Amino acid sequence: MQKKVISELIQSEPSLQTMSISGWVRSFRSNRFIALNDGSTIKNLQCVVDFEKFDEELLKKITVGAAILVEGHLVESQGQGQSVEVQVSKVEILGEANPEEVKLTILSPKRHSMETLREQAHLRVRTNTFGAVMRLRSKLAFAVHEYFQKNGFYYMHTPIITGSDAEGAGEMFRVSALDPKNPPLNEDGSINYTEDFFEKETNLTVSGQLEAETYAMGLGKVYTFGPTFRAENSNTSRHLAEFWMIEPEVAFNDLHDNMDLAEDFIKYVIRYALDHCPDDLEFLEGRLLEEEKNKPQQDRSEMTLREKLSFVLDNNFIRVSYTEAIEILKNSTPNKKKKFKYLIEEWGADLQSEHERFLVEKHFKCPVILFDYPAKIKAFYMRLNEDEKTVRAMDVLFPGIGEIVGGSQREERYEVLKNKMKVMDISEEELYWYLDLRKFGTCVHSGFGLGFERLVQFVSGMGNIRDVIPYPRTPGNAEF
Ligand code: 4AD
Ligand code: MG
Repeated sequence: MQKKVISELIQSEPSLQTMSISGWVRSFRSNRFIALNDGSTIKNLQCVVDFEKFDEELLKKITVGAAILVEGHLVESQGQGQSVEVQVSKVEILGEANPEEVKLTILSPKRHSMETLREQAHLRVRTNTFGAVMRLRSKLAFAVHEYFQKNGFYYMHTPIITGSDAEGAGEMFRVSALDPKNPPLNEDGSINYTEDFFEKETNLTVSGQLEAETYAMGLGKVYTFGPTFRAENSNTSRHLAEFWMIEPEVAFNDLHDNMDLAEDFIKYVIRYALDHCPDDLEFLEGRLLEEEKNKPQQDRSEMTLREKLSFVLDNNFIRVSYTEAIEILKNSTPNKKKKFKYLIEEWGADLQSEHERFLVEKHFKCPVILFDYPAKIKAFYMRLNEDEKTVRAMDVLFPGIGEIVGGSQREERYEVLKNKMKVMDISEEELYWYLDLRKFGTCVHSGFGLGFERLVQFVSGMGNIRDVIPYPRTPGNAEF
């Protein structure tokens, strides 16, 4: 007998051929209509049982959450919302689900808050919302690879355990195999890491960029797509302690090529989602509309989810220098009326998410690429401009999200980089290999990092980053 998945079946024609379908019961109405879902699509398959022909004890076990196998054939559906349904000839209970216990979980068919869903993250993928988000996430991940592979990039795996702090921000999780109760100590009482597994201090990577640069210097165009870790104590709807980052790095690309690449790449993956996830996006759009009904009018978005996605595809990202942005912000109403938490007073100020969102959502009403930031507020590896004040940095800012991409043209001049490392207290000894790149055939090169979860957030319309990754890691939470 043919095993079929529901995504295929709902697009098939009625047929007399018997087939078997396995899934989880979403509902069982009137002792007759089973709504079955197998995860292959947001749509349920209606399975119709003639209850007279089935044992009562068996029917009692067709309960919400149970795993069952049905056999039958496809007939034209009389009901609304589907063109075919299964006329069931046999039901097998694969895994029961006790209704009394189901009632206490998010599997029970009623509205649950996002917080409750997060507490039961092991079950939430069986809800419509999380099924849709996670299918979308998977498609987007594939689109990322497709884009780079089609465009001549090589996928490179950068190490998860590293000895360096790529961002120089010191927000790292230590990796150690020492006995925490009795670590070997130096004379001054500090821990002696030379006796640790790697014979040095190591941590989980915050970015694969530095290693990606070494490979761009040999393979030309590379990208990484892997987990990154940040021990920053940010309890926001856009920060995770463990997130997935996509980092292309390209030899001979300058900052403008880098901006072009980021824009083209983002548009490609968004278009891919629109083309490949119509049902899930339709559902997520409806979900967002419902959610926004609870918000005050001025906080509701003017566009539906798919309109927002199309808007990004149809418009050029606006490119603005940091200096221009500061002028706009200085003269903005929220700044003059002291509505910003951090007022913009002078050139050199670091931009907070309130400023980024003002620029994108209120001023330009369009994705924005800010470039040429003050050297002082950016990482050590960014290419210093001729003004010696700014660096060739770029951040892509998105509505509702803020920063979705951070990147730069890299400092390719040996002496300038060495100097910069000294000033910023970055260990030359540790990063000798990074400096080596500037000694042997150095060249202009650029890259960026895109936070995959922020992308999934934008495309799915989910408000909290914890709801676009299966098992979020945030301060105080590493459950599951
Ligand atoms: O701006 P960031 O820190 O840049 C880098 O790490 C560079 N080394 C990238 C590169 O040039 N290769 O991070 C890049 C992006 C951010 O724009 C954001 O989308 C995401 O990574 N990101 C986070 N996403 C979720 N949770 C966090 N805590 C994040 N921190 C950064
Ligand atoms: Mg950044």
